[in-house]
Amino acid sequence: MTEEHKIEERNPGQRQLTVRVLAMPADTNPSGHIFGGWLMSQVDIAGSIIACQIADARVATVAVHDFQFEKPVHVGDLVSCYAEIERTGRTSIRVRVEVFAERDRNPHTVGRVAVASITYVGLDEDSRPKVLKK
Ligand SMILES: CC(C)(COP(=O)(O)OP(=O)(O)OC[C@H]1O[C@@H](n2cnc3c(N)ncnc32)[C@H](O)[C@@H]1OP(=O)(O)O)[C@@H](O)C(=O)NCCC(=O)NCCS
Repeated sequence: MTEEHKIEERNPGQRQLTVRVLAMPADTNPSGHIFGGWLMSQVDIAGSIIACQIADARVATVAVHDFQFEKPVHVGDLVSCYAEIERTGRTSIRVRVEVFAERDRNPHTVGRVAVASITYVGLDEDSRPKVLKK
């Protein structure tokens, strides 16, 4: 069983797979490895999807509290971002995102490559913070 499958079983209904994407040659830095900014972008998207569900509105990223790159991502890796709510405030939603990479399209080589914690704010029609429904 892969680590990715264990994660889904550990937190059924809480942690959501919100982004799944293949790392492409165009996403590399000058050293030929996957660019960290590309991964940050995927994580931001992954967290925003679950934040939008909670806000029932569009959201803005207001703060990145923590972002750890634990292992490199390679071209051809299948990258999966799992998002879960850490906490909610009056208008803000803090989301933890864990990123796993499947190397060489081999489901037996899944490992965690990054983890992040990001705060989003739900926005109303005037792009002002929207109070979350409890
Ligand atoms: C999101 C935005 C509309 C919020 O407006 P604001 O006047 O700062 O609103 P507030 O001060 O009422 O803060 C709103 C919430 O964000 C939280 N917040 C603000 N800054 C924060 C920070 N640095 N870390 C954690 N939470 C923060 C506040 O605690 C508040 O949460 P709560 O309502 O749950 O208590 C405004 O900050 C903004 O437009 N930021 C730019 C967003 C953006 O463009 N993101 C993409 C960047 S490329």
